[in-house]
Amino acid sequence: MVEDSTRCLRRIGFSLAPVVLALAGCTAGSGEGLDAGGRPISGPPAGNSDFQEIQDTIFTPICTVCHAGANAPVGLRLDAANSYAMLVNVASVEAPGTLRVNPGNPGASYLVHKIEGTAATGARMPANGPPYLSQAQVDLIRGWIAAGALAAQQPGSVLLVTSSIPGPAETAPSGTNKLMLVFNAAVDPARANVNSLELRDATDQIVPIASAVVPPGRANVVEIALGAPLAAGSFQLAARGSGPAPLADMAGRVLDGDADGAAGGDWLIPFDVAGGTR
Ligand code: HEC
Repeated sequence: MVEDSTRCLRRIGFSLAPVVLALAGCTAGSGEGLDAGGRPISGPPAGNSDFQEIQDTIFTPICTVCHAGANAPVGLRLDAANSYAMLVNVASVEAPGTLRVNPGNPGASYLVHKIEGTAATGARMPANGPPYLSQAQVDLIRGWIAAGALAAQQPGSVLLVTSSIPGPAETAPSGTNKLMLVFNAAVDPARANVNSLELRDATDQIVPIASAVVPPGRANVVEIALGAPLAAGSFQLAARGSGPAPLADMAGRVLDGDADGAAGGDWLIPFDVAGGTR
């Protein structure tokens, strides 16, 4: 793994032993307290860029070989658009009593158990290893979780949908009874409800949505539960940025559904549901 001094500097602010060890390899002296663009580091906590580094150096190159798309093992997608929303404060499928990532608690995070090979169920990750992750890579993930498992920074002046499950034009497994939206900012839970969403089938009939909620500890996510598993066929989900009940973020900014840089418009996602035993 190539490490430049900028990357090392981004980690300053952690008092964790593994991070201190990682810093030992950094070029000392130049630019302390400055970000990649040479600007003073002010607001964003160090954990933000750590998650970006984990994504870029571990999840994307090593894990998405398997953990991507509609057939990702145990539904865990680790591509950049979905990994955070599918890890932090989400229950493990293999060990439902344990969160995949428990902010502040690396030892109680199933992700850590899986990469260290201490999980009670299944293989050590990556499942096509060895090689497994190096101690430095494990420590990077542990350090990020210990520091609160912060998201990578997502600057922007409008609220956008950044991902969905199923993704656009994807084929969801048969029996699908929940959908998920991921946003670039914290969604106002009071504005996320059955009225701010609409699901239609191929004949344009409305399919009932049972509930739409921002789950605890997952401020950028809206989970949609359907009244019944979807039949095989084609569907379109609309997330509303227009009409009487648009989605909005905590600052009151309404969804930019048509991604034209201004609030308003509905975000549409067409997808299919597989039939039978596929
Ligand atoms: C060769 C395919 C493959 C690769 C590469 C892979 N995984 Fe997995 N992963 C699986 C499979 C299959 C399962 C389910 C069975 C098992 O646990 O052995 C799984 C399960 C998991 C789980 C359990 C999720 C839960 O909800 O219980 C985690 C966490 C995980 N993987 C993380 C990772 C990480 C992190 C990487 C990259 C470092 C990775 N995996 C790379 C195939 C893979």
